[in-house]
Amino acid sequence: MVKNSPDFPCVLILGALSDVALALAEVYASEGSRLVLAARRPERLERIAKDLNLRFGVTVEIKELDVRDFASHGAFVESLSEIPDLVVAAFGYLGDQQKALDDFEEARQILEVNFVGAVSVLNRLALRMASQRQGVVAALASVAGLRGRMSNFHYGSAKAGLIAYLSGLRNWGWHHGVHVCTLIPGFIRTRMIAHMHTPGFLTLTPEQAAKRIAKAIRKRRNQAYIGPIWWWMMAVIRAIPEPLFKRLRL
Ligand SMILES: NC(=O)c1ccc[n+]([C@@H]2O[C@H](COP(=O)([O-])OP(=O)(O)OC[C@H]3O[C@@H](n4cnc5c(N)ncnc54)[C@H](OP(=O)(O)O)[C@@H]3O)[C@@H](O)[C@H]2O)c1
Repeated sequence: MVKNSPDFPCVLILGALSDVALALAEVYASEGSRLVLAARRPERLERIAKDLNLRFGVTVEIKELDVRDFASHGAFVESLSEIPDLVVAAFGYLGDQQKALDDFEEARQILEVNFVGAVSVLNRLALRMASQRQGVVAALASVAGLRGRMSNFHYGSAKAGLIAYLSGLRNWGWHHGVHVCTLIPGFIRTRMIAHMHTPGFLTLTPEQAAKRIAKAIRKRRNQAYIGPIWWWMMAVIRAIPEPLFKRLRL
């Protein structure tokens, strides 16, 4: 049953084929929001859009977006039929840490998807929202962005950049009627970490993560950890002195 008046009448999801984004699209469709789903392979969204429309009776528009194709972002934003009430950036690329050390192209892809591309597309959307003095920008960062570790410091540094960017955008947005929500997940059982063994009690399903994300956005949280314990875990990890931290195999 859809709500009569959803919190966000129009929701734009970027990176809409991500496992978390798909679960989030379902949450917002169930609330009766109109959806605009953007992904770099939009043809893969067609069946999903039809399914959401049939099950929840909401309109679902599909857009093409490659976050690394910076030159296309202006036209992408211009092509939107309305300024969304909420945009959620769910794209991401973990990449191969070892390959990124040897091969700058891999490092570049990690930095461009997780940081540069996010800045390029979110700047444009935030400016459009500011022109109407309303809107919410939300983006998925990561606990990896809170301290550089040897196992994923290219990804982590891109997410650290994203966290700092979102903090500044939030400060700017406050003066322009735009709210910015930084979402900081720990582990979510998706394609991205399918090759990793993560402790069950620390790992959310995409559906659990989507519910927590939607709640944090609805409450207009500035920054929210997505998953139990992560605030405490990261407080401990961040408190480890650098002379000790560098000796650990994290
Ligand atoms: N899973 C976790 O444990 C975890 C933890 C912390 C943070 N996060 C973050 O949560 C978000 C969602 O991730 P997920 O776990 O749902 O991962 P996922 O299923 O692997 O989804 C990542 C999505 O990013 C898209 N993408 C990659 N490069 C792109 C590009 N150049 N242009 C447009 N889209 C691009 C992928 O598109 P294709 O479908 O075309 O490949 C994919 O749909 C990401 O920001 C991720 O960094 C995840």
